[in-house]
Amino acid sequence: MLKVNDLHKSYQVGKTTYEVLKGVSFEIAKGEFVAVMGPSGSGKTTLLNCISCYIPADKGSIMLGKTELARLSEEQLATVRNRELGFVFQDFLLLDGLSVRDNILLPAIIGGTVDPDTERRAEELCRIFGISAIEEKYPAEISGGEKQRTAVARALINRPMMILADEPTGNLDSKSSRAVIDSFLQARRAMGATIFMVTHDSFAASFCDRAIILRDGQVWRTVERGDMERLSFQDKLLDSVREMGRE
Ligand SMILES: Nc1ncnc2c1ncn2[C@@H]1O[C@H](COP(=O)(O)OP(=O)(O)O)[C@@H](O)[C@H]1O
Ligand SMILES: [Mg+2]
Repeated sequence: MLKVNDLHKSYQVGKTTYEVLKGVSFEIAKGEFVAVMGPSGSGKTTLLNCISCYIPADKGSIMLGKTELARLSEEQLATVRNRELGFVFQDFLLLDGLSVRDNILLPAIIGGTVDPDTERRAEELCRIFGISAIEEKYPAEISGGEKQRTAVARALINRPMMILADEPTGNLDSKSSRAVIDSFLQARRAMGATIFMVTHDSFAASFCDRAIILRDGQVWRTVERGDMERLSFQDKLLDSVREMGRE
């Protein structure tokens, strides 16, 4: 599904070069729910932005299915982002002037395909995520958790191969965080979605199949949930994070 190989990225600030990603490699299979963890500044957002080609990597390859993303033209990339990827941002990025329903339909509007089928899918997503009652409301009139569920529904409207989420629970209380995680689990159950979630929160990560932990620009460790209970998995993630702090 997604194969990242030897990804490098540095930023140039004045005369100084900051190496942020120093050879990151991993693979994600279809239907997997994977967390990318790491302390603030460890390059999680940079990695996500490289995968979606919002910023160019310096070196390495990113394969989405059979497509090498760096080889695509801007126009082809825009199509891949619109059709194959669904994005959930930390601050939701809902458009204030559009209703919940129209925010959800936005990627379809951009892709030029709002047919009755798409409209039915929007309704279905609202039902799945429990936001049917607020479909006609505007972002200013709904709660943080509802905004986030709207953002997840929007990410799914075009039936993407993969959801990319950057700290989707970052600004939320624990109840709303849980709602977001549940909406990802639901998306996987109902649609076989593959989910790639950046987070520094071990609670959010404990619902995943696997956590990839970044440190100093590389994959430091991968922690698999296997058949562990969620709470034991969260403990194991916390232990890893502590261990990383000690080293
Ligand atoms: N556009 C940029 N220009 C220069 N430095 C950047 C830029 N974006 C991020 N950085 C730096 O790269 C490092 C990694 O940032 P980021 O990927 O946002 O980390 P994270 O999401 O894990 O907190 C940080 O030290 C940050 O200051
Ligand atoms: Mg970040």
